Amino acid sequence: SEDHVLPKETQLKDFISTLPAREGWSTPLIQYKKYWFRRQMLEKILLVQDTYKPRTDDIILATQPKCGTTWLKALAFTITNRSRYSFADHPLLTLHPQHVVPFIEIRSLGMDHIEFETLPSPRLLATHMPISMLPSDTRSRGCRIVYLCQDPKDTLVSRLHFENKVVKGCNLPMDNAFSMFCEGFSPYGPFWDHCREYWEDSLARPNNVLFMKYEEIMSDPVQGVRELAKFLGVPLTEEEESSGVAEEVVKLCSFETLTSLQVNQVGGVDAGNKAYLDNSVFFRKGKVGDWTNHMSQEMGEKLDSIVQLKLQGCGLVF
Ligand code: A3P
Repeated sequence: SEDHVLPKETQLKDFISTLPAREGWSTPLIQYKKYWFRRQMLEKILLVQDTYKPRTDDIILATQPKCGTTWLKALAFTITNRSRYSFADHPLLTLHPQHVVPFIEIRSLGMDHIEFETLPSPRLLATHMPISMLPSDTRSRGCRIVYLCQDPKDTLVSRLHFENKVVKGCNLPMDNAFSMFCEGFSPYGPFWDHCREYWEDSLARPNNVLFMKYEEIMSDPVQGVRELAKFLGVPLTEEEESSGVAEEVVKLCSFETLTSLQVNQVGGVDAGNKAYLDNSVFFRKGKVGDWTNHMSQEMGEKLDSIVQLKLQGCGLVF
């Protein structure tokens, strides 16, 4: 049985140094309960077990990195704040989507000052944590969770580009990244376990956990907005439907609109550890199926069959 008793803050570093560590990505990853994390991330994950106090009306946007977090943040922020802001004078025209929704366990760049406890309700928060590592009060209080995942092949391609772009001197070849990813060794991975946990909870608690796929939103974004709005307790009214509000949300949050804005093209933040995060780094192609340009068909099939095997029996397929 895995223990849920967490070491005190002062003991965290010692505790983490006892865990398995492995090199291969731009920084070593540490394994905690089957998942792999960067050291700083794991420290924060363990810390927020005590410092994050879930509220009943918290909304948590959950993803694995590179699965469309930026897009989901933009969509959920726009949907839940649509009575406050007009599309012509919208915060997303001047603020990066990553900066309007803070992460629970990551010091959100440009949002260092954010203190969870002082944020007004309802709070819109983001996380990459597996659902089993969210403080248990998120469950007992019935917080709403939206999980967005993406095809593993496209996720891997996006991950590799991000890693090589963000970390100075990192030039990881696809072959290495591919074999590590296939072993389940990737930041916040294994990919399949992360998806599977959220998927199973979405089946068990459909009013609390909404499971979405990047590809599905991409193929019908207006429907995606409707579904999100409904789940978040702010369904589109008939009037909004007829005046095209969903279409406006889709347009504002689209890859094309967001990448055309200056705030998403210039500037950035020094994230420490030789990493510099350009605002633009969260936008690359924004296309489904780009993996074919970076991986062989054979590799694609291999990864697919591994994921299929790992997800066998739970009903989730990619
Ligand atoms: P690609 O690298 O495949 O282009 P995350 O936000 O979780 O880091 O995920 C980043 C991925 O989402 C990148 O994928 C990025 O281009 C894509 N993305 C960012 N903004 C998007 C948007 N508004 N619509 C669709 N995809 C978007």
